[in-house]
Amino acid sequence: NWTTHNVVEEQIALIREQVGTKRAICGLSGGVDSAVAAALVQKAIGSQLTCVYVDHGLMRKGETEQVEKDFVAATGVQLKVVDAQERFLTALAGVSDPETKRKIIGREFIRVFEQAQLEILQEDGPEVAFLVQGTLYPDVVESGGGTGTANIKSHHNVGGLPDDIEFELVEPLRKLFKDEVRMVGQELGLPEEIVQRQPFPGPGLGIRIVGEVTKDRLDLLREADAIAREELTAAGLDREIWQCPVVLLADVRSVGVQGDGRTYGPPIVLRPVSSEDAMTADWTRMPYDVLAKISTRITNEVPDVNRVVLDVTSKPPGTIEWE
Ligand code: XMP
Repeated sequence: NWTTHNVVEEQIALIREQVGTKRAICGLSGGVDSAVAAALVQKAIGSQLTCVYVDHGLMRKGETEQVEKDFVAATGVQLKVVDAQERFLTALAGVSDPETKRKIIGREFIRVFEQAQLEILQEDGPEVAFLVQGTLYPDVVESGGGTGTANIKSHHNVGGLPDDIEFELVEPLRKLFKDEVRMVGQELGLPEEIVQRQPFPGPGLGIRIVGEVTKDRLDLLREADAIAREELTAAGLDREIWQCPVVLLADVRSVGVQGDGRTYGPPIVLRPVSSEDAMTADWTRMPYDVLAKISTRITNEVPDVNRVVLDVTSKPPGTIEWE
C-alpha cells in the first residue's frame, strides 16, 4: 500500500543499491523537486552526496537563504554555493529581448554548474559517478520514458580531467506526482516554504523585468514581490492561486503624486492566476480588499513605484509569465 513512509524506505534502499560507495552530485534550484530528490538521496547516502546551488541573483527575497540555511539545517546536506550574481548581471547587461535573456541565463547556468561539478570531481574521495535529478512521473511520460545519462564536457581548461565525463542519473521521484513529492518532502522534514512553494520559472526574476535586468531593478522587484506574497499568504489565498507573478515594467513610467510632490516611475503588474497544470489558466477573481492592501503597501514601501496594475488576461491568449 502507498504511504509516504513506504516510498521513502523503498527509494532509500534503491538509491543505496545504485550508488554503492561512489559519490553523487545534485543541483538545487530552490524548487520542490530538486529539494526533495536531494533530501532523499542525502538520507540514503549521506556525505557521498554533494549539492550545488548556483546563486544567479534572480531569486525572490529570502529564497537563497532558505536553501543555504533552512534546507541545509533540515537535511544536513553538504552544499556548495556558487555566488554568480555578478556574472549573470554582466551577461545580461543591455539585453531586453525575452528569448535572448532566457538563452543567456540558461547558458551561464550550465557553465557555472559544470565548473562546480569539475571542482567536486577533483576533490579527494570516491569516484563521482552519479547526477541526481528531480524528474517527476509527468516528465517521464512526456519525454518517452527512458532513463539516462548526462555528459559533462571539460571545456573549461581545467587540467587533468578526461574530455568527457558521463554521469549515471539518479531519479528517485520518477514514479511520483507533484502532490506526492510534496508529501514525501514533508515526511523528510523539509521546510514548509520549500515543500509548498508555487511554481517559479528557472530564469527567475530575469523574465519578470520587462526591459533590461539590472541590480536596482531586481532589488525593487524583489521588494514588491515579497509584499504581494506576504499579503496573499496572510489572506489564505496560496492554494486558490496557482501562482502570482509580480512583474516590473521597467521602461514604462507614469506620473504620480506621492508625499510632497510629483513622481515619475515604473508600474508593477500583479498576475494572479488559477490553473491545474499551467497549460491553461484563468486570472484569479481575488478579493478587492487584498488587492487594495497589496497596492497600498507596494506604493508606500517600494521607492519609485507609484502605480500597481492588475492583469486580467486568461491563458490563452496571454502566457502566465510576461516574457
Ligand atoms: P507560461 O508563461 O509559458 O508559463 O504560461 C507556464 C508555467 O511555466 C513556468 N515557466 C517556466 N518554468 N523555466 C521553468 O522552469 C522557464 O523558463 C519557465 N518559463 C515559464 C511559469 O512560471 C508557469 O508556471
